[in-house]
Amino acid sequence: MKRVRIASLGAAKILGKYMAQAMKDCERTEFVGVASRDPARAREVVKQFGGRAFESYDALLRSQDVDAVYIPLPIALHEKWSLEALKHGKHILVEKSFSNGLAACERVLDLARKNNLLASENFMCAFHRQHHFVRSVISDGKIGEPKFFQAWFGCPGFPKDDIRYSKELGGGVLGDMGTYTVFMSRFFFGEDPQILSANLWSEDRTVDEFGSVHLNHASGVHSALQFGISLEYRNEYTIWGTKGYIRVERAYSIPPDQPPVILIRRQNEDEKPKLDSDDHFVNRLSEFAERIESGDFTPSYSAVWNQAVTMENVRNFARSMPTGKKPT
Ligand SMILES: NC(=O)c1ccc[n+]([C@@H]2O[C@H](COP(=O)([O-])OP(=O)(O)OC[C@H]3O[C@@H](n4cnc5c(N)ncnc54)[C@H](OP(=O)(O)O)[C@@H]3O)[C@@H](O)[C@H]2O)c1
Repeated sequence: MKRVRIASLGAAKILGKYMAQAMKDCERTEFVGVASRDPARAREVVKQFGGRAFESYDALLRSQDVDAVYIPLPIALHEKWSLEALKHGKHILVEKSFSNGLAACERVLDLARKNNLLASENFMCAFHRQHHFVRSVISDGKIGEPKFFQAWFGCPGFPKDDIRYSKELGGGVLGDMGTYTVFMSRFFFGEDPQILSANLWSEDRTVDEFGSVHLNHASGVHSALQFGISLEYRNEYTIWGTKGYIRVERAYSIPPDQPPVILIRRQNEDEKPKLDSDDHFVNRLSEFAERIESGDFTPSYSAVWNQAVTMENVRNFARSMPTGKKPT
């Protein structure tokens, strides 16, 4: 098995915190380096994780030693650099949200198809064993028929100059955190939900800081999704069925060494199943590399597209709604 050689465009925090280590730990990938607008930052990453500090984004893309490019750039830059990477014959693993709109998503997927390259969105949570366990609890009928999916993802505010607060860079909480709750609702209950309501608002910024979305899945499940920045940290979901409910904490991003925290409640009886910790970053990279090896990219194109369609519908619905304070 040949390892997929991955390099990163940008020395993003997420690269140093989890992804570079995961690229090293995954048996199917190799971390071959990083390019930064500030070469000193690239050298810092390389000192810690190995690989090469490329002199620029372009130099990285021209390198024959790179098979795939990881793109953890601000969302508004995803399209430009995804297209550049695809033009240079590189597969792409793009941080969520894949694009800042459906039209941009379509342009990137069209080029990926044309050049027969993989394009994938980095939703690592789909690859954590805790959610597959939850699926098995539902399919075993343990909580009866699921009726409601309730999801929360929020955190305290970021420093003032964070990319999430920049409209030009594609900031805003829907694309950054809300997208996980939309993704997990689709993961459990069906790809193509109807939007019942969507509100995005801000108190004093030009990007959305808070969001509340209601979805209706053809499977009969209603989802209530709430997300925000400048909130007490909350990262969980509950699936509420006719015979019980299941709650998962540290749902969307869970450190590789942290065991899942799950509660199943049925007729006032609590069960706290013990599951081992899992590294969803490594699992995610492993799937990315397997897909490259298989040459079958269609499932990944569909996954990216279907998420982008729901996100676009949410965005459009929110634009048509009266919002709490300043519309964004
Ligand atoms: N999957 C996950 O678990 C997860 C978790 C957190 C974040 N994310 C996603 O990862 C991405 C990065 O998030 P982060 O928190 O790591 O952010 P960050 O540290 O600000 O990283 C963004 C990087 O983009 C590069 N960049 C290029 N042009 C830029 C510009 N004009 N302004 C600012 N930065 C520019 C910078 O790299 P150089 O200066 O080095 O070139 C910067 O390090 C976001 O899309 C976010 O949604 C994913």
